[in-house]
Amino acid sequence: MNGITVNSGLSRQEIVEMLEINDKTEYDLLISKAYSIKEKFVGKIAYMRGLIEFSNICVKDCLYCGIRKGNDKISRYSMTDDEILKVVYYAYKNKINGIVLQSGEKRSYSFTKRISDLIFSIKDKTNPEFRITLSLGEQTKETYNEWFAAGAQRYLLRIETTNEDLYRKIHPDDNLHSYKSRRECIENIQKAGFQTGTGVMIGLPFQKIEDLADDLLFMKNNEIDMVGMGPYLEHADTPLYDYKYSLIPLKKRMRLSLGMIAVLRILMPEINIASSTALQSIDPVGRELGLLAGANILMPNITPLKYKNSYQLYNNKPCIDEDSAICLRNLKSSVQKIGETISFDDYGDSRHYKNKTIKNIYS
Ligand code: 5AD
Repeated sequence: MNGITVNSGLSRQEIVEMLEINDKTEYDLLISKAYSIKEKFVGKIAYMRGLIEFSNICVKDCLYCGIRKGNDKISRYSMTDDEILKVVYYAYKNKINGIVLQSGEKRSYSFTKRISDLIFSIKDKTNPEFRITLSLGEQTKETYNEWFAAGAQRYLLRIETTNEDLYRKIHPDDNLHSYKSRRECIENIQKAGFQTGTGVMIGLPFQKIEDLADDLLFMKNNEIDMVGMGPYLEHADTPLYDYKYSLIPLKKRMRLSLGMIAVLRILMPEINIASSTALQSIDPVGRELGLLAGANILMPNITPLKYKNSYQLYNNKPCIDEDSAICLRNLKSSVQKIGETISFDDYGDSRHYKNKTIKNIYS
């Protein structure tokens, strides 16, 4: 490949070539090109979202995930509304102007209602503009609509992989884990009006570079507003662990993940891209490297310390023995070190979403 131009209309083959770069100079060029696009379109600014993992009880049995239903080695917890509101207030007081409510998947009338009520209480305790992102898995269209109407502005649902065969290999073969339903859910999330986020795992067993190129094109073709993607990391108490010998080495998974972020920034200059926690578990400065490759969102974990240990999606999850205050302090100073600023002034909504909405009004 001879140099990289700003081209948000890359072909599948061009993306594959970019992800396959071996040469250090060319790789550095890719990363710095992505960074300059980030600088131009979203600035050298990182936005924080406080991540609250409020329950690890899950109906799903995904073959890669440490909190899968079938893992009986972990103790299950669910934070009370009061506990959640306390953490939200902590984030608000620390000027973090948005939170992510994440939990294992649960589907019921009472769960839908509980979350709606929680959204109202959060707005009441903070302000109506306070940004709430939900990451609560697959739900009905009506539930997504209800949560959006209640005031949550963003929703994250990773597609995990856009290769249907691979999706089937890493999930049980039943109605609860259908690729088709997952795609439909993402569509319903968009239709409800949310800033919509998705993402994939990188370096899964059986995954090919072409699959990853298709993942990026899926994000582009479906007008996704936010992306969180990171390396697949094995968990000893999951079925996929059996395939750990077939994985690409961690260092390569890291490099590939940063490459994915960089190519995505080139493809979609105005979206929000998270620098995932999984990057940090491979490299202590992984999240900073993510920012330097084009990401602009950080999700410090503000789950109370006593629960953090029970929410291990993969082994070696970082920060689980650190108090939120320490996590936040470390994050702020490390971001400054790479010449970026954490913004406390605005909400950092996805520019892609805003522009899309404006376009729709005038079309
Ligand atoms: N390695 C990396 N990411 C994982 N996730 C779940 N298990 C793992 C793992 N073993 C990711 C999934 C999920 C998100 C909440 O965490 O992509 O959507």
